[in-house]
Amino acid sequence: MNNFDFHNPTRILFGKGRIADLNAQVPNDAKVLITYGGGSAERTGVLAQVRKALGDRTVVEFGGIEPNPRFATAIKAVDVIAKNGITFLLAVGGGSVIDATKFIAAAAKFSGDPWEILTSRGSVVKEAMPFGTVLTLPATASEMNSGSVITHAEKGAKLPFMSPHCYPVFSVLDPELTYTLPARQIANGVADAFVHIIEQYLTYPVAANVQDGFAETLLRTLVDIGPKAIEAPEDYDLRANLMWTATLALNGLIGAGVPQDWASHMIGHEITAFNDTDHARTLAVVLPALMNDQRGPKREKLLQYGANVWNIHEGDEDARIDAAIDATRDFFHAIGIKTRLSDYNVAASDIDTIIGALTDHGMTALGEHGAITPEVARRILEAAV
Ligand code: NZQ
Ligand code: ZN
Repeated sequence: MNNFDFHNPTRILFGKGRIADLNAQVPNDAKVLITYGGGSAERTGVLAQVRKALGDRTVVEFGGIEPNPRFATAIKAVDVIAKNGITFLLAVGGGSVIDATKFIAAAAKFSGDPWEILTSRGSVVKEAMPFGTVLTLPATASEMNSGSVITHAEKGAKLPFMSPHCYPVFSVLDPELTYTLPARQIANGVADAFVHIIEQYLTYPVAANVQDGFAETLLRTLVDIGPKAIEAPEDYDLRANLMWTATLALNGLIGAGVPQDWASHMIGHEITAFNDTDHARTLAVVLPALMNDQRGPKREKLLQYGANVWNIHEGDEDARIDAAIDATRDFFHAIGIKTRLSDYNVAASDIDTIIGALTDHGMTALGEHGAITPEVARRILEAAV
């Protein structure tokens, strides 16, 4: 097992009716900015619950944060904070709203050009405003990690940053808030969480038995409950397990002390920047092709994954790896997610643009060995057309 530091300061308030507990978590004298997305939080009544829980506090609201949140929109919120003397942020939504709020929290305390927060991957962030979240979409684990991904439409860039100052102070996880999600978003959440686990697990063995076992349990849980959670939108236990699995998938626990990959994510972000394909769907395209391409360096973990997640024990090593990759693809199909670039209007002739952007963004040595160069990424995408 590799050396690691692990510290996750986010308090989780899990279960039914927990929005009411905001009153105890948000400072009494806070001037609160509620951030939210395109209107689902208003339509579903979540915002009404939040307003009620905040009681007499001064509250300003900032809506309109897009899926794949835009830099320009976040900057507008920074102005609202300055004009209104806001002291606390409360994100109400999915990963996009939470990610935007992290960026807003950092940008509000940053004196330089806020774009540098992204180009430096967060290293220039020395402080951030405190913020909490009310999660409405289980997928990203942004509710319990310090990462954020922001899109700059004009620059054609979708860049991640991380900062230890950008953990939420608390997050409310009420599985009932997911009942209103369309099937497409639940499927996205299942696929995104699945690939988060894979990015931290499917590398090479370092005798991290606990992390591996935990990752395999989370993967098997998603395989089991993913399709059922889509079929039965109001099954509390399914949604509760999905919500907690998605949070545990990327809250730092399974990634502590192990090598990590993240190439599928970095390549996928360029596909989203190219044509706004849903984040999770880009992962379902890249991952199976990457597994096949990297079957050499990932051999031992691919065999372990096949055996412990998919119960694949028959045949020679290559046959078992083929079966594990097929099972992964079939799983995405079973939750209604297609796995080819051509399914998302990306043609072979577009790969140049995507690889050019990947190179421009410095993503030239991806993966657990730093061996996924733009040439390798091109090969992966060509196999995924
Ligand atoms: O905008 P509104 O109207 O709120 O609608 C949203 C949005 O259209 C809707 N929605 C959310 N909760 C709902 C709901 N509709 C009905 N009922 C509810 N309860 O769902 C749509 C998608 O929301 P979004 O927040 O974009 O989805 P998700 O949570 O999947 O977040 C995706 C973003 O997170 C980034 C992705 O790149 C993408 O930009 N990621 C963030 C990560 C992190 N911070 O650690 C890691 C991930 O790998 C990922 O990159
Ligand atoms: Zn993701």
